[in-house]
Amino acid sequence: MNLNDLKIIVTGAASGMGRHFALRLAELGASVAAADLNTEGLESLKAEAADFPGKVITFETNVASEDDVVALINGTYEQFGGLNGLVNNAGIFRDGLLVKKDKTTGNVKRMSLKNWQMVIDVDLTGPFLCTREFAAKVIETDTKQAVVINISSVSRHGNPGQSNYSAAKAGLAADTKLWAMELARYGIRVAAIAPGFVDTPILQGMRPEVLDKMLKGVAMRRTGTPEELFLGVKFIVECDYFTGRCLDIDGGTFM
Ligand SMILES: NC(=O)c1ccc[n+]([C@@H]2O[C@H](COP(=O)([O-])OP(=O)(O)OC[C@H]3O[C@@H](n4cnc5c(N)ncnc54)[C@H](O)[C@@H]3O)[C@@H](O)[C@H]2O)c1
Repeated sequence: MNLNDLKIIVTGAASGMGRHFALRLAELGASVAAADLNTEGLESLKAEAADFPGKVITFETNVASEDDVVALINGTYEQFGGLNGLVNNAGIFRDGLLVKKDKTTGNVKRMSLKNWQMVIDVDLTGPFLCTREFAAKVIETDTKQAVVINISSVSRHGNPGQSNYSAAKAGLAADTKLWAMELARYGIRVAAIAPGFVDTPILQGMRPEVLDKMLKGVAMRRTGTPEELFLGVKFIVECDYFTGRCLDIDGGTFM
């Protein structure tokens, strides 16, 4: 597919990687619907992209809300007169061990159901709702070619302290394959990118010594940049023979 012909939704576009993807896509001529909970971030994104060749429109969207997602898909289609791309990027984490014994009191702390559910809702149910509504719209409007890009994570292999996040990102990688198989007959490709540690606001808040320790497991010994991840987005859009697979862009991170 040609970037100029893209009418694409990017979720979680107010910050970090999603923001970079939205800006770069618009810079290269794509029409971009930026969706996020953070309305201030969306406004500044729109202002930043004002002179870009591709148009940026914004939607205040909670990807875990069915009503919001339906409104996002219909609104984008109406405003752009079409829809042929989706980047499922919005994501959160709420890390914690499954159970942890306090050395002093002997009490066993548990990962709360709330923190489990919150991450599953945003990181797995969100992409499910967005992809379901996107695919239905593509089929109903007889759109010939379309692409979905799921942002998974190296944590999908199972990262201690991330029961909720690893489960969501592994589920998303599995769905990438089966959605590719289910949707190919409608001209829809579905692929994933699994980033390692990327330099976004999430990591910028981390203590340097914690980050240093994490980078010991990375062959390149550094974090990735949003632009390095964008190269994966661009490749997936442009390569019409790529579907059902997950691109690991992680500098050689082994968990
Ligand atoms: N940064 C990393 O090191 C890293 C590594 C692997 C995977 N990822 C994944 O990449 C994606 C982007 O991460 P990032 O580092 O840019 O994070 P970020 O926190 O900078 O951006 C995430 C965006 O998602 C939005 N968001 C959160 N919940 C939402 C919801 N319910 N509905 C709509 N929007 C919502 C936030 O407002 C924010 O703008 C996430 O899916 C994350 O899990 C990040």
